[in-house]
Amino acid sequence: MLTALPNALRLLLAALLWTKDPDSHLDLSPAYAPLRFQLRHEHAAAQGSRSLFADVPPSLLGQYHEIPIENIKTHRIPSAAYSHARFLSMRDAQTPILAWDSVEILGPDVSKRRTLLELATMTHNSYYAEPSHKNWYPINGWNTSVPFGWEPDADGLRGHIFASEDNSTVVISIKGTSAPWIAGGEGPTKARDKLNDNLLFSCCCARLGITWSTVCGCYSGGDKCDQNCLEDSLTGDSLYYEIATNLYNDVVYMYPNANIWLTGHSLGGAIASLVGVTFGAPVVAFEVPGEKLAASAFASAPSTQHITHVYHTADPMAMGTCNGITSLCYVAGFAVETRCHLGQRILYDTVTHRGWSVESRHHSMKFLLDNLFNEDWDAEAGVEVPAVDVEEDCVECYNWEFGDFK
Ligand SMILES: *[C@@H]1O[C@H](CO)[C@@H](O)[C@H](O)[C@H]1NC(C)=O
Ligand SMILES: *[C@@H]1O[C@H](CO)[C@@H](O)[C@H](O)[C@H]1NC(C)=O
Repeated sequence: MLTALPNALRLLLAALLWTKDPDSHLDLSPAYAPLRFQLRHEHAAAQGSRSLFADVPPSLLGQYHEIPIENIKTHRIPSAAYSHARFLSMRDAQTPILAWDSVEILGPDVSKRRTLLELATMTHNSYYAEPSHKNWYPINGWNTSVPFGWEPDADGLRGHIFASEDNSTVVISIKGTSAPWIAGGEGPTKARDKLNDNLLFSCCCARLGITWSTVCGCYSGGDKCDQNCLEDSLTGDSLYYEIATNLYNDVVYMYPNANIWLTGHSLGGAIASLVGVTFGAPVVAFEVPGEKLAASAFASAPSTQHITHVYHTADPMAMGTCNGITSLCYVAGFAVETRCHLGQRILYDTVTHRGWSVESRHHSMKFLLDNLFNEDWDAEAGVEVPAVDVEEDCVECYNWEFGDFK
């Protein structure tokens, strides 16, 4: 309890001091010191929908990610018991009626490039179990000569868990799809990743035509898709959403007083967002194909501004344009059709302002660490990061009719 006190105190002080005068444009919100996060554990899906954890040896705890923070608003379910009840009702695909509390918590300050760079690095590294891997990005103080991590034979959802020095804030990072043209890594999680991609980002179970085998049986002839069937297919045991919900609950158990954030890239970012909207936890998600359609299968917090999508216009997956029979996604067996995102977004217009072409290699986190988050967006104008906005008038799967057809 005591260790959580400094931040609790700061939050209390913030509540007392934080006054915004609507007439002056003076922002009197308090400036917080950045939080320093250490990599503490790796997580990987075990059999079924449980996760396993590997602790980082104490000798490696010197490294850290330093992340600027600010107050953000979200909604919370009052207690852990309540969140358990919520989890049960979700399994039955019922919409639970819950009393959400509106709360203000310390979250990542997404207006700072440092925040995006650090979270992007955490997300990128979660593709790799070993810090000695050639693609691992250096973290301050990390001693790469000490081996640690998973043998690369575990199937399914994987990633890292970081905690601030006082355990007051924990970050769960979730790895995205393992495919050579996405992250530079073929891995054992490939097949299951693809199933999850095709469930989450297609309009109707990856039914793209008669030559495609669908990943669930919700196609109801013509241009009809059965909504109930679709919702059931997304909440199945051992699907990533289910595993990640359990993972979240495990982390709550390990750090009962912590404020938990999630981050991830691509499929991992979509899962982070879906879990974040379920529990009201802050999320920074990178280059996610639209996950809003999938989110409609789960009950969610009454507000979504605690979820921030970061993506750019030269990434066909995040922009929802990697489809059609000549696209790399289609050829590789990925039905990436969705384009609408939950919450708020930071959209880098790299096509207009950097002259980047739209191609799938621009989806890769490594590419973005080297070419986007490594420098301010518009250094001359003093703009670290493009302004936050909200996607408007986003239409999804307009050629499909969703309803009760079975
Ligand atoms: C890294 O770890 C190795 C093995 O424990 C040790 O010999 C070496 O001194 C460490 N290097 C640093 C910079 O701490
Ligand atoms: C933080 O949590 C870890 C468990 O992961 C524990 O070993 C450590 O003592 C805690 N540190 C503080 C400052 O509470």
